[in-house]
Amino acid sequence: MKEKIIINEVGLRDGLQNQPQHVSTADKARMAELLVAAGVKHLEPVSFVSPKAVPQMADAAELSQRLPQQDDLHYTALIPNLRGYQLARDNGYRTVALVLSTTDTFNQRNLNMSLAQAIDSCRQIIASARADGIATRTYISGAFACPYDGATAVDVTLNLAQQMIEAGSEEVAIADTIGAGNPQQTKDIMAPLIQQYGAERFFIHLHDTRGLATAMAWAACDLGIRKFDASVGGLGGCPFAPGATGNVATEDLVYLFESVGFDTGIDVQKLRDVISVAEQATGRQLGGRIINWMKSQEERGKPCLF
Ligand code: COA
Ligand code: ZN
Repeated sequence: MKEKIIINEVGLRDGLQNQPQHVSTADKARMAELLVAAGVKHLEPVSFVSPKAVPQMADAAELSQRLPQQDDLHYTALIPNLRGYQLARDNGYRTVALVLSTTDTFNQRNLNMSLAQAIDSCRQIIASARADGIATRTYISGAFACPYDGATAVDVTLNLAQQMIEAGSEEVAIADTIGAGNPQQTKDIMAPLIQQYGAERFFIHLHDTRGLATAMAWAACDLGIRKFDASVGGLGGCPFAPGATGNVATEDLVYLFESVGFDTGIDVQKLRDVISVAEQATGRQLGGRIINWMKSQEERGKPCLF
């Protein structure tokens, strides 16, 4: 039996939130359906945020009603505040993703809160969720660097992660929101957290801005991390994090982990159907490195043997 890796698909949320071209609810629902058909079991399809701040997420409630329903699917909704938590809960989500950035500036731009206010808000949401029997995953955003204030000290990230775990957050995601980290920093952050709390508590959320995302994913995996966020086709970029390009591509992580003997449960060929819909919907050419390789093989009449 191969060891499992969880790849949580965040393309519909992190990937689409920044697209200049409006993506219809029907196209999003179709993408979700095709993702599930490709074997994806963990998805973050929406955020419950101000539609003025992020117009692409204005249909969160409607899309939530149109998602595939199966017992083995795990959906999360990203929430910026208590209001977002209530909306996620009322729309049936059993796990919510909270966001806490590492600096005052980033929290201010993203949530209109100071760092201290954001910590307080997360504590309140975690307490409400625990009372309602809803699980929380808290994202430490800008864990490697802040888009406004530069490099983040390891201790700052560790301290916030510890505070959230102690507040009762079941999971913590370490997020390289702008793709500024490297594999050594990944180990510097993850090793003490894993030692203190165990690897199962943690997700890693990577952006491939400078091409190191798969190297960082591998560094984390080597330490025992088995849960990763990714976006199909490498969709993405955060409207509140200037310079951030897309998430690490789901297909690149699938290829990485399958090639070294893990089981992701995801079929890269089938992800290409999702990428086609996403390309039409966004008007952009998409696809991780492995897709380009597959296309070049096909052009030369060769099979794509992994
Ligand atoms: N969902 C939907 N609407 C919300 C909301 C939520 N979670 N929270 C607040 N609002 C609405 C309010 O009802 C109000 O609407 P109105 O102008 O029609 O009365 C408006 O947004 C402003 O409310 P306020 O509480 O003053 O919020 P704010 O202006 O301080 O903005 C956020 C704070 C968090 C709502 C906003 O910055 C936001 O949505 N950010 C999202 C950030 C994001 O998605 N980042 C990317 C992922 S990390
Ligand atoms: Zn992100």
